[in-house]
This record gives sequence, structure tokens and C-alpha cells, in this order.
Amino acid sequence: MKILFVCLGNICRSPLAEAIARDYAKEKGYSIEVDSCGTGSWHIGDAPCPDSQKIAKIRGLDISNYKARQVCKDDFKKFDLIVGLDSKNIASLKELGCKNPLLIGDYGYEGEDVPDPYFFDGFEGFDKVFDMIECCVKNLLEEKIEK
Ligand code: 4NP
Repeated sequence: MKILFVCLGNICRSPLAEAIARDYAKEKGYSIEVDSCGTGSWHIGDAPCPDSQKIAKIRGLDISNYKARQVCKDDFKKFDLIVGLDSKNIASLKELGCKNPLLIGDYGYEGEDVPDPYFFDGFEGFDKVFDMIECCVKNLLEEKIEK
């Protein structure tokens, strides 16, 4: 199974989802491929934002070598599951022709959007964002892979 996580810039939230999914799949022995991307083009080629790298490191994950890329229509053929981090991401994906994107918050947070930490004032809040993404990614994988 191939899973793609999508946010706006691919430098804050979706790299965390990708790393968490890869790590959890390894722990559980799930055979999956994961990737992440953004709907926007501003940060193509950039590494994840410093605070995402920091929270990832605190939680035992290294995302320092990730590079941002923009979503493309080919992704909708290549990936089995396309997962948006908030409802704006879902709307953008649908506009681009993605038929059935999943909202990550539907897997443990009652459909809540994962807030965009790019607009946070400082590091505060990255803990909550990580917790949300971790909870939902684990639930999503358990539901989609174990059933
Ligand atoms: P992300 O955060 O979608 O979680 O990667 C953002 C990063 C950059 C921008 C917006 C959101 N930006 O507008 O440049």
C-alpha cells in the first residue's frame, strides 16, 4: 500500500505525518510506502521547518534530509491513499482531480483540522500538532492495513 500525506507547504505538517507513518509501519511490520507533498509551490526543495525538525528529533525521528515537493496529478494514480492534513488541503486536492482524499483528523480527532504551525508564534503548539498527527496516523494505518 502506498500512502501520500498532503499539507500546504510540505515543510511543517506532512513531513511529520510521513516520518511517523514510516516509523510506525516499521514497528508493526506493515509493508507500506509513504511520501508527503504540499499543494503549494513556495517551498519546493526546502528542508522541513526548524520547529518540525526539532519536535521530530525530540520524539525520536529524523526528518532533516526530507525535501519539499508539490503534489502532481500523477500522485493520484500512484498512491492508494491520499491524506490531507486539513480541510483546505482536501478542497485543493479535489480541485486538482483527486477523487477521494481522506482527512487525517477523521482518524481520532473528530474531523478536526491539524492547525498550520507555519503561522504559530514560536515552538509552542508543535507538541499538540505532533500528538494529533501521531494519534491519527496510527489509527489510519491500523484501520487501513489490519482490516
Ligand atoms: P505546512 O505549513 O503546510 O504544514 O507545511 C506551511 C508552510 C509554508 C506555508 C504555508 C504553510 N507558506 O505559505 O509558505
